[in-house]
Amino acid sequence: MGKWMKLGMAAALASAALLYGGCGGGGQGGKQQLPPTDKPIIAVVQIVQHGSLDQANQGFVEGLKKRGYDENKVYFDQQNAQGDQSNLKTIVSRFKAEKPKLICAIATPAAQAAANEIKDIPIVGTAITDYTTAKLVKNDEHPGGNVTGVSDLASIDAQMDLGRALVPNAKKIGLIYCSSEVNSEVQANMMKEYCKKNKLSVEERTVNNVNDIQQVAESLVGKVDFIYVPTDNTLASAIPTLMKITDANKIPVIVGADIMAKDGALAALSVDYYKLGLQTGQMAADILDGKIKPETAPIQHQKEYTIVINKKDAEILGIQIPDEIAKKAQMV
Ligand code: TRP
Repeated sequence: MGKWMKLGMAAALASAALLYGGCGGGGQGGKQQLPPTDKPIIAVVQIVQHGSLDQANQGFVEGLKKRGYDENKVYFDQQNAQGDQSNLKTIVSRFKAEKPKLICAIATPAAQAAANEIKDIPIVGTAITDYTTAKLVKNDEHPGGNVTGVSDLASIDAQMDLGRALVPNAKKIGLIYCSSEVNSEVQANMMKEYCKKNKLSVEERTVNNVNDIQQVAESLVGKVDFIYVPTDNTLASAIPTLMKITDANKIPVIVGADIMAKDGALAALSVDYYKLGLQTGQMAADILDGKIKPETAPIQHQKEYTIVINKKDAEILGIQIPDEIAKKAQMV
């Protein structure tokens, strides 16, 4: 089934790409093409295509289906912005015109774009690090508006403890993230706090876009014992670019999401994004059923984490995975 769902998803994304293929950069030009349906619409906007977010998306749809909101009853309008802000604008104005019953926004930039424009339709977020800092809600306990959802923040302390268990004598830690992603800034601050508490020094580097990654990675060679990368949408799309430099220089990379370890980084401690999506689907069903309202439904978290270790990268780096970690980790 997984395979067919993936194919379905690929088809949906491909048709989204076709829809926007001819739009040019501006986005607000021609007429909006609305979905050919008279069923109630569930609109989904995802910032970019990558493993974690795709899994959250699948989980969300599955979670709703489990509660009876399947294709017989609703129409899923799946839209992917391909990492582009102007696409996000186009998608959000499409949603405004089609008046869905509910919007699911996947990752912080997608939720910010939707929440800025749409105030009268419930927006449920998923794979979002910190709703309050991103100004999506007044506070996590009492959102106060039309936005609520599920956070994907995994304990930064636990992630850093994992890094230090794999690189026992680490004293200097590199940190790379995209300066315009508030989700990353939150995690970077927590990481710096941890390092201060544990008397570790931090070499912090930010990128504006994927083109900066190589240079920034090179600037850390010889300066750090390992590098930490949070769940950053920009970095996630270019892990192989980062690994080229870090593997060649034997620098371990610890990452905030399972998919980035599958893409080549040494290790991750993260939430399970499919489960996160399922939980989001349940929350959405509760809203559609009238059981809860976004303004009073607290942001939900996941308390269980998965450790993912990339065996091949451990070999490249010459790192022995301690037994107690190997026992509980998923080896990829
Ligand atoms: N948490 C990120 C956000 O708030 C999105 C995200 C989820 C992500 N999983 C990821 C980014 C993995 C990079 C890698 O926008």
